[in-house]
Amino acid sequence: MKVTGTQKSQILASRIAYSLDVDLLSTRYSRFPDGEHYLQIGPLDDQTVIVGSVIDSDSFVQLLLLIDACGDSENTLVLPYMGYARQDKQFKEGEPVSARAVAMALGRGVDRVISVQIHDSGVLVHFGLPAENLTPASEIGTFLSSSDYADPLILAPDEGALAFASAIAHERDWDHDFLVKTRISGEEVRMEPKKLPVSSRTVVIVDDIISTGGTLVTATRMLHAQGAAEVHAVCVHGIFTGGTYTALLNAGITNISASDTIESAHSQYSIAQSVARAIENADD
Ligand code: R5P
Repeated sequence: MKVTGTQKSQILASRIAYSLDVDLLSTRYSRFPDGEHYLQIGPLDDQTVIVGSVIDSDSFVQLLLLIDACGDSENTLVLPYMGYARQDKQFKEGEPVSARAVAMALGRGVDRVISVQIHDSGVLVHFGLPAENLTPASEIGTFLSSSDYADPLILAPDEGALAFASAIAHERDWDHDFLVKTRISGEEVRMEPKKLPVSSRTVVIVDDIISTGGTLVTATRMLHAQGAAEVHAVCVHGIFTGGTYTALLNAGITNISASDTIESAHSQYSIAQSVARAIENADD
């Protein structure tokens, strides 16, 4: 078995190879003069683990090329972050189901898929292959423990994220709750935890994705107004569109952490070992 990865997922690919104790495929990337991607890998093995987050159009194309180059070997696609997964249904007439389009394109040359905290695991059906979604609750539990937060309250930004918050909280027997949003007027909303008061507490808001950070900014201001001692944010996929990080700091978030599904300076914990375990379990 060997591991390879797209350019933007190289650190994670090498961590997964290290955890599996296997080599990385030699992989060379460049571009044609007109900007089209080119890559060359080798020498191939019987089994290949292909690691690539769909972060943007370039990483998507590179992933398609990498899968094609891996040819007939037994290919496992590790899709740490699947962009386009949030357009998982036709919300308006004439729209594509983008998640289906991406899954069908990527699923063609692989034998199985491993995703991480995908927006909705129902999307995996579009691969038409054995597919598994990993929830990095244990990694986040370990990361938060090492951060020495005093008896944190793990808070989901909405009820939909409650299962994720609960899984993390159960790692160390922490309290958990979710935020309820009440519209007070056309412009004004109030957000507060459903059950637990935040006064004097260290609050950790956990979410699958931080993109614009819009919800978090509002939530953080409200939590500070309700007396929270500190507010931290942990996500799996840190997209951080322009200005998000500054907006979150200005709103009063002390620390913002993400995993290495999207590699950046905010990647403070890794999902590599979970992925390696899932690959080993599938091979047993
Ligand atoms: C929503 O369904 C997701 O779980 C995230 O809460 C959302 O994508 C975060 O987006 P933003 O950072 O733009 O508020």
